[in-house]
Amino acid sequence: MLRLNIANAMEEVIGEKGLAEKEIEALRDVLSKAVLQVKQRNWEELAFLDLPEQDISDVKEIGVKIKKDSEYFLLLGIGGSALGPRSIIEALSPFHNLKKTPKVFIYDNVDPITLHSIFDIVDLKKTTVNVVTKSGSTAETVASFMILWEMMEKVLGEATGEHFVATTDPHKGNLREIVRQKGLLSLSIPPGVVGRYSVLSPVGLLLAEVIGVDSREILKGAADIRDRVMEEEPWKNPALLMAAILYLYGQNYGRTIDVLMPYADGLRRFSEWFCQLWAESLGKLGLGLTPYPSVGTTDQHSQLQLWMEGPEDKVLLFLRIEDYGEDIKIPFVFQDMEGLSYLSGHLLSELIKAEEESTELALAKAGRPSVTVILPRIDAYYMGQLFMFFEIVTVLTGFLIGINPFNQPGVEEGKNFTYGMMGKKGFEHKRQEVEASRERKTCWEL
Ligand code: PA5
Repeated sequence: MLRLNIANAMEEVIGEKGLAEKEIEALRDVLSKAVLQVKQRNWEELAFLDLPEQDISDVKEIGVKIKKDSEYFLLLGIGGSALGPRSIIEALSPFHNLKKTPKVFIYDNVDPITLHSIFDIVDLKKTTVNVVTKSGSTAETVASFMILWEMMEKVLGEATGEHFVATTDPHKGNLREIVRQKGLLSLSIPPGVVGRYSVLSPVGLLLAEVIGVDSREILKGAADIRDRVMEEEPWKNPALLMAAILYLYGQNYGRTIDVLMPYADGLRRFSEWFCQLWAESLGKLGLGLTPYPSVGTTDQHSQLQLWMEGPEDKVLLFLRIEDYGEDIKIPFVFQDMEGLSYLSGHLLSELIKAEEESTELALAKAGRPSVTVILPRIDAYYMGQLFMFFEIVTVLTGFLIGINPFNQPGVEEGKNFTYGMMGKKGFEHKRQEVEASRERKTCWEL
């Protein structure tokens, strides 16, 4: 089971800048109320907690078909509809496209250069397009879907629909309507599951199956950690304790930036997934905590100086891997050079673990707090645990802050301006606002 070590956040270990046990004790009632809300499913959006029990026979069946029929798999989606799948492939099948088929592309933007580059590589006749959008109306995803549909139609004619799988709401939205009209294969994102909490739905699971990962293992891991963190006693519940610590540091000590630093290349994208989850869930009403993606050891040579001696506004969230599975011994070459020879005979896993521990300790000595999530291995089972653990920590932290961790009202205004500029009916006034703002801006441009 994934574990949490909070020593380097506590005053007993790092001195006066650490938290006192009594600060957590003082929150006891609020903490158990937060867990109760989760346990009792007080919000419809807590439906993500039940994803481990979903029926995945369709996901498996469609996954088998895609593996058999396709050389390329192109996922169109953005936000929660892309970041989860991307972190699954990067963690569980590194350098996938250089080694295996179907080759996977995730297009989560409307950058024409990227789409052109994908078209240079894929053969549309051998491609399955998985269009993923819960709402069925996200402009970026819908635009790329329209482009792909037309291009596929040109080369495939009547067979076009056979090359698409739609992952969307079971009942509502434009994409569901297109599924009905064109008879497309489809998978459903359960109604209560919000985009950034959807990685354990068919959003992430279809890609897992396509790259040869058994999604049952992911779900098993998710179920096990979910059941482990339903405890109301804070000192026995790692998710609750982590939420309490990050909340207290943000609220009382101005440490509002949370840096996630996994010591694994495969978890770089997981850091990005976490950033969306944390930012979009917690940043509202002038409150919230700011996520910051990182990776060890790489960022020790890039960001660590700032964390050691810069503003005291951060908490480090280390992600330590216990068993890397693979290993490589550093050989006995250049033995006459002291600056190199001390490394000989050690394993790379020893070096990366030593660096992680040293960084934790150096920060602790400087009174800079951190917590450490300990992951036994990077595999499907533990990826399921990681996703579910961080989702629950996010919800609990949101409840402690006192905001709704499931909505994102702040992204609407920007979308409305885009609708206006792109000519969507009913948004003409937004277009006028944009034009007026352009006039105001011209004299400030150099
Ligand atoms: O968390 C969310 O709800 C959002 O970030 C969505 O994932 C994102 O906006 C994409 O939405 P959709 O899946 O409806 O296209």
